[in-house]
Amino acid sequence: MQRIFSGIQPSGVPTLGNYLGAIRNWVALQQGHECLYCLVDLHAITTWQDPAQLREQTRTQAAILLAAGIDAETHILFNQSAVSAHARLAWIFNCVARIGWLNRMTQFKDKAGKDREAVSAGLYVYPNLMAADILAYHATRVPVGDDQRQHLELANDIAQKFNHDYGVTFFPVIEALVPPDAARVMSLRDGTKKMSKSDPSDQSRINLTDDADAIAQKIRRARTDAEPLPSEPAGLAERPEARNLVTILAALSDMTIEDTLAVHGGQGFGTFKEALAERIVATVGPIAGEARRLMDDPAHLDAVLRRGAARANAIAEPIVREAERIVGFLP
Ligand code: TYM
Repeated sequence: MQRIFSGIQPSGVPTLGNYLGAIRNWVALQQGHECLYCLVDLHAITTWQDPAQLREQTRTQAAILLAAGIDAETHILFNQSAVSAHARLAWIFNCVARIGWLNRMTQFKDKAGKDREAVSAGLYVYPNLMAADILAYHATRVPVGDDQRQHLELANDIAQKFNHDYGVTFFPVIEALVPPDAARVMSLRDGTKKMSKSDPSDQSRINLTDDADAIAQKIRRARTDAEPLPSEPAGLAERPEARNLVTILAALSDMTIEDTLAVHGGQGFGTFKEALAERIVATVGPIAGEARRLMDDPAHLDAVLRRGAARANAIAEPIVREAERIVGFLP
């Protein structure tokens, strides 16, 4: 059975983008794979996180993942900092990866913005830690949204260079599993920007904890243009906001864009947005409700994560010890 690894940063409440790009796929892949899903708190602190809020968000994310259908009995759900193998392997990878490779990472450039000298060193070596997350388990398949593709290519470069430098075939090749549709859900305020849990504007996203009223209000206010919807996908070409909303509805209805436009083409946004909000509420409502129930018992969530960490540790520890032996560290 192939091993799956994926992660999400507890740097905010997960969004509909996280759901369509990743979480929905994580749930489906539990059939037929051995899965590890990780709340990457080490990654989260590469940008400032208030400590109390980080604890709270880590629990909220655990609740949301369980509510969305992650089975923490059969599979493994844990937080990254609880398994020391991640940080140890990341250090080795810091010494394998080349600065030139990191300089090409578009996400670093986006997140660092203009003032590159002022961001944390952790943000710069972020992709090396990601490679360690996956390779500490010899995982081979990684379900992610489109924005993580480049990081996974880098992880393969690191694995290959490690194997080559030390003359071993120790780390496997990783395959990115990116959904065919909705791999990049865009902001509700700006169709050229990714929907993000860390965007300062709450109006830019649907949180997986939003209730029906909040969802309806955000969709009603979502930016659009003045034209009715086209009846063919080609008509969405220069209309990023319209394309985003149609893509979301199509993905949530398991329909193609073509079929979605066959139904809604010619409609104005007033009518279309009602159908869209209804569809989002049908998916997000039950997840938010169940997550709220789980959040009432933080001790239970902590116990689930602790048990997950112990099981994750049992897999990663021998693999990372072997990497340390290969490098030449004394046992
Ligand atoms: P993060 O926390 O930004 O996002 C978690 C997952 O959600 C996907 N995603 C999206 N998909 C579609 N549309 C969007 N607007 C959108 N926003 C986010 C992301 O692609 C991701 O799959 N670096 C990772 C976390 C990570 C990781 C790993 C992932 C750490 N180690 C190892 C895979 C393997 C991140 O910041 O995800």
